[in-house]
Amino acid sequence: MNILVTGGTGYIGSHTVVELLTAGHKVTVVDNLCNSSADSLAKVSEICHCSSIPFAECDIRDRAALGRVMDSDRFDAVIHFAGLKAVGESVEKPWEYYDNNIGGTLVLLDVMRQHGVKNIIFSSSATVYGDPQEIPITETCPKGQCTNPYGWTKSMLEQVLTDLQMADSEWNVVLLRYFNPIGAHPSGLIGENPNGIPNNLMPYITQTAVGIRKELGIFGNDYPTPDGTGVRDYIHVVDLARGHVAALKAIAGKCGIETFNLGTGTGYSVLDVVRAFEKANGVKVPYSIKPRRAGDIAACYSDPSKAFRVLGWKAEYGIEDMCRHSWNFQKNLLK
Ligand code: NAD
Ligand code: UFG
Repeated sequence: MNILVTGGTGYIGSHTVVELLTAGHKVTVVDNLCNSSADSLAKVSEICHCSSIPFAECDIRDRAALGRVMDSDRFDAVIHFAGLKAVGESVEKPWEYYDNNIGGTLVLLDVMRQHGVKNIIFSSSATVYGDPQEIPITETCPKGQCTNPYGWTKSMLEQVLTDLQMADSEWNVVLLRYFNPIGAHPSGLIGENPNGIPNNLMPYITQTAVGIRKELGIFGNDYPTPDGTGVRDYIHVVDLARGHVAALKAIAGKCGIETFNLGTGTGYSVLDVVRAFEKANGVKVPYSIKPRRAGDIAACYSDPSKAFRVLGWKAEYGIEDMCRHSWNFQKNLLK
């Protein structure tokens, strides 16, 4: 298939481009580079042993520019990663988050329908479940109250896509609710390299292990979990990327809307991850216990069985692979 990937130079997008090319799809990437660099596509070409990947530096809110990209080829589907994703920043800058994530997606959907492209895979998040009513979380678990504007953009965009599909049954929509993506490509060439102080656990761990940060702060050890620290469903970014390829295959030629959890189904605590990282890499991660972080929940992990049943997809990598590949990428950044 011929796929337009928005946000394709970013962390999950670049890994997905690798898996799409490996599966024989044709790819064009659109990204405004506000949180990534076009270098990642050069690395993708290196991994896939292919010539350069068609790329348009373009903001998806720029209707004319996006229209020109869509005029340039006949796309079968769009995989839509482009968006802002920093939870804390979204509390400080809600307008920017609603403008970019919601405004951008509305423009994208309009340009898509003008071009007769009505197949879309959307990057949603486990954050839409809020503090989940049941664990493991199935897709039928009711959506909950989000604790920040970023989460609301995901929840609202799911609704926008649902309404759009209901009004026009030619649309084919897949909502992929990611749990906690970590890890990096096994080649060590692409991975997550956040600007500034990392918000997320794994980049904080790798930066501590490499000496950029003094110690990891563990946000709370008094949660009702086995060791008191927060439990999450960490999923290797390559497995997550392959989930998109599986979704594309499953939706080909169909219409409708489907939602899938993409997780492993296993929860690990913060201390479990620290220990797995130390074991996998033979390095120490100094840490201290800090107060709980506002907005955090105790535990969140998926029931990913629907994705296996319907898409034939399941996560393959384990927690130690995730830790090893994250560390490998972090070390390569210093070279
Ligand atoms: P990322 O920041 O690495 O990638 C997002 C990309 O979108 C970046 O390259 C950025 O430059 C681009 N972008 C942002 N706004 C744009 C715009 N207006 N026009 C064009 N490009 C724009 O983030 P990621 O971790 O790869 O996340 C990809 C998607 O998955 C996002 O939608 C994110 O919300 C979602 N998601 C991520 C996580 C996670 O923990 N990483 C979890 C759940 C959902
Ligand atoms: N944590 C620490 N110290 C840190 C960072 C995190 O103890 O320095 C803990 C958190 O308290 C939590 C766990 O590590 O218990 C995971 O935290 P992350 O910030 O890595 O991930 P979250 O589960 O908070 O959220 C992430 C994304 C959201 C997304 C959600 C579900 O940041 O955007 O996963 O997919 F919605």
